[in-house]
Amino acid sequence: MNVLIIGSGAREHALCWSAARSESVERIFVAPGNGGTALMGGKVLNVPLKVTALDDLLLFAADNEVDLTVVGSESPLELGIVDLFRRAGKKIVGPTKSAARLESSKVFSKEFMQRHGIPTAGYHVFRNAFSANSYIALPETRYPQVIKASGLCAGKGVFIALDKEQALKAIGELFEERIFGDAGNEVVIEEFLQGEEASVFALTDGTAYRLFLSAQDHKRIGDGDTGKNTGGMGAYAPAPLVTAEVMQKVEELIIQPTLKGMRDEGALYTGFLYVGLMIDEGEPFVVEYNARLGDPETQVVLPLLKSDFVEALLASVDGSLDEVPFEMHPQSATTVVIASGGYPDHYEAGKVITIADELSVMEDCLLFHAGTAYEKGRLTTAGGRVFSVTALGSTLRESILRAYSAVEKIGFEGACYRTDIGAKAL
Ligand code: AMP
Ligand code: GLY
Repeated sequence: MNVLIIGSGAREHALCWSAARSESVERIFVAPGNGGTALMGGKVLNVPLKVTALDDLLLFAADNEVDLTVVGSESPLELGIVDLFRRAGKKIVGPTKSAARLESSKVFSKEFMQRHGIPTAGYHVFRNAFSANSYIALPETRYPQVIKASGLCAGKGVFIALDKEQALKAIGELFEERIFGDAGNEVVIEEFLQGEEASVFALTDGTAYRLFLSAQDHKRIGDGDTGKNTGGMGAYAPAPLVTAEVMQKVEELIIQPTLKGMRDEGALYTGFLYVGLMIDEGEPFVVEYNARLGDPETQVVLPLLKSDFVEALLASVDGSLDEVPFEMHPQSATTVVIASGGYPDHYEAGKVITIADELSVMEDCLLFHAGTAYEKGRLTTAGGRVFSVTALGSTLRESILRAYSAVEKIGFEGACYRTDIGAKAL
């Protein structure tokens, strides 16, 4: 079987790694891939196509006898890649454009949760600055308030306003300066949820679903959750916060009603469902849905999957997810992201990377590349997040120690990483 993976981050490198372990897989194409997928060799080949070049991707899949396509990132989903491939009779893992609105429109997802009684923060929707400012000016508005652009903003469209001034500034940036363009045409202002965050990931055929382990991301750039928001600086799984009791509530109060609600509304939801949660005294609330796997969470969740990944993906497309095994290793995993100096603001690319040979033989360590390029025998940096270094362990502590000893084997000018990934779970 031939598989096409769409994306270029460490998440897609992990998807490739996982798919490559499946005996049924002959070739894996990655569009466009990165330095790490280029170096995998063997059955893995990078294809220089952009993730948003949907027609070219379909043509490639048809010409190269691709049997299964897996979408890593959200933008092709929002553009309707699943609809396009299905119309052409090609198997693809992911939700349709209409179902992907759970991620691509926060207004849709909030109204959907309200219609189906799914626990989430109370909210209001605004379509112009005047009405948003009027709401902010009401004496009964309590702070913090969370202000969100409705459309896709690569994880950057959320403002936590601690007071009225900050709220007005955010509304001005969204509606007047239009910093996110059309993605900010609609704005959700919601109540601030207390608690701790974790994520749960499901694979679904629309009715049946299977759960991966829970995970926790670290979104801020600095130790102790300080500084700017990033795409994610590290993660671990499973998250001790998501006890069996919490997971049961997540399934009954969130995942099952979400899938049923989408079915009832005629937008069958298939593929990966990422539920970002706030857990307050054991009660889960949805912070956001994503229509894909998380990055960096995939880099801890997939290595802990014991069963054949590709077999499960195929079953999710064929509607037989109930019939395949879906087991996890009874271990923990931690991933530490190494970023370019300056990230998430301005950073320089093109730095030469050195990786000590010992890394390749370190037990239970996996090096996933993100922003790297491999050309003419040289590996250089080519993005903000450069690597995601994963390690497994029989305990979370062991996986953290292993991941950090692997991080030390990698060097490039300006490299930076958080030193406290996983610490708050210990
Ligand atoms: P989102 O893109 O919706 O996941 O929001 C990004 C981040 O903002 C989340 O991971 C939370 O840390 C924070 N956040 C979003 N909504 C809320 C909320 N209602 N209450 C508290 N924090 C929130
Ligand atoms: N780690 C957050 C995300 O993938 O959206």
